Amino acid sequence: MTDRIGVAVIGTGFMGRCHATAWRQVHAIFEDLPTPELIAVADAVPAAARATAAAFGFSHAVADWRDVMADPRVQAVSIATPNAMHREMALAALAAGKHVWCEKPMAVTLADAEAMAAAARGARGRTLLGYNYTCNPMIGEARRLIGQGAIGRVVHVRGVVDEDYLADPEIPWSWRLRREDAGLGTLGDLACHLIAMLHLLVGPVSRVQGDMATVHATRPVPGRGGERAAVENEDVAQALVRFENGATGVLGFSRVAWGRKNRIGWEIHGTRGMLTFDQERMNELQLFLAEGAPGTRGFRTILAGPAHPPFGRFVPAAGHGLGFNDLKVIEAARLLRAIAGGQPAELDFEHGLTIERTIHAIARAAASEGWISPSALSGALSGD
Ligand SMILES: NC(=O)c1ccc[n+]([C@@H]2O[C@H](COP(=O)([O-])OP(=O)(O)OC[C@H]3O[C@@H](n4cnc5c(N)ncnc54)[C@H](O)[C@@H]3O)[C@@H](O)[C@H]2O)c1
Repeated sequence: MTDRIGVAVIGTGFMGRCHATAWRQVHAIFEDLPTPELIAVADAVPAAARATAAAFGFSHAVADWRDVMADPRVQAVSIATPNAMHREMALAALAAGKHVWCEKPMAVTLADAEAMAAAARGARGRTLLGYNYTCNPMIGEARRLIGQGAIGRVVHVRGVVDEDYLADPEIPWSWRLRREDAGLGTLGDLACHLIAMLHLLVGPVSRVQGDMATVHATRPVPGRGGERAAVENEDVAQALVRFENGATGVLGFSRVAWGRKNRIGWEIHGTRGMLTFDQERMNELQLFLAEGAPGTRGFRTILAGPAHPPFGRFVPAAGHGLGFNDLKVIEAARLLRAIAGGQPAELDFEHGLTIERTIHAIARAAASEGWISPSALSGALSGD
């Protein structure tokens, strides 16, 4: 096993800075894994690359991401750029023999995601997608409980991902609203996180029905004196799903849900109990078990603590809570462990393709007009 891994981060926005933080911290928390060497930061805005490299202790700043791919000191690359660049950057990194930690959604189109998964299959480098919420120790605990049969057979799932970052119709237009740059809207930006979680907790989805809508049709273009541009992808979406194991589900997604900041919430109903989780209270898990005297039954709140690995690597006492950036550190460790062990990472490009297929299936189903109008139905026609 190599004990040092040269790393680079492409993109210095929200996610680029989270990746840079994670690469900086991961060795202090996971000292048994290879140590990242902070080689380069790339950004199309050279001043941003320089400032981020200086702030986070990377030795080089470059404006052209291709320089990172050509640099033999770089063995692992973080791709934290807008969605439309993921495919080209990931293919270049894999062709150069590098490991890839790519932000979600995997790509703009399903065809792009397929090309990325195909390239990863024959590559030397390991791959990982940015499904950071799955790294939460409480999700690990939920997995263990479900795997041990604590709530019996999983029969039904209710899930939501709600945020309000586009609830105000005057929030300016951005790349996230154009199909060419972003692909799907709330399905690609938000739903994929829940689908990734449920993929680990319940299993793959076997079929879907879908519906989606754009709530605010246009938004002001920044710096263009009142000009408005069209919103090309969906603000809200919902789906009925069946999982391969037979469980049914109802899922809803919105980026215009006033008051919700990062509500990735789910209930998993089993034949002997239920588990519920909400990312806005990420250090808690609610468990109901149908056991004991009926009069004393109720949900119990499990607070995150050292009993839920790897929580104890960060904090030695329960109830003190991890945060979003800690999930990114655990995610960096996930990739380093895959590299050190020579094994695929969980939620690599292969798993990612399954998640992409699910969100694209919901979009396709939404376009397929499978509606039945109650007013068009008569007893004779319905057979009821
Ligand atoms: N995992 C999560 O929870 C999470 C959260 C937010 C965003 N994301 C994902 O992260 C990715 C980036 O989103 P963000 O919010 O950080 O965006 P952002 O707009 O804040 O940052 C994007 C960065 O990429 C840079 N960039 C653009 N084109 C480039 C190019 N050709 N070469 C180099 N750099 C370039 C920009 O200058 C900017 O620094 C998206 O795919 C998004 O979906 C994931």
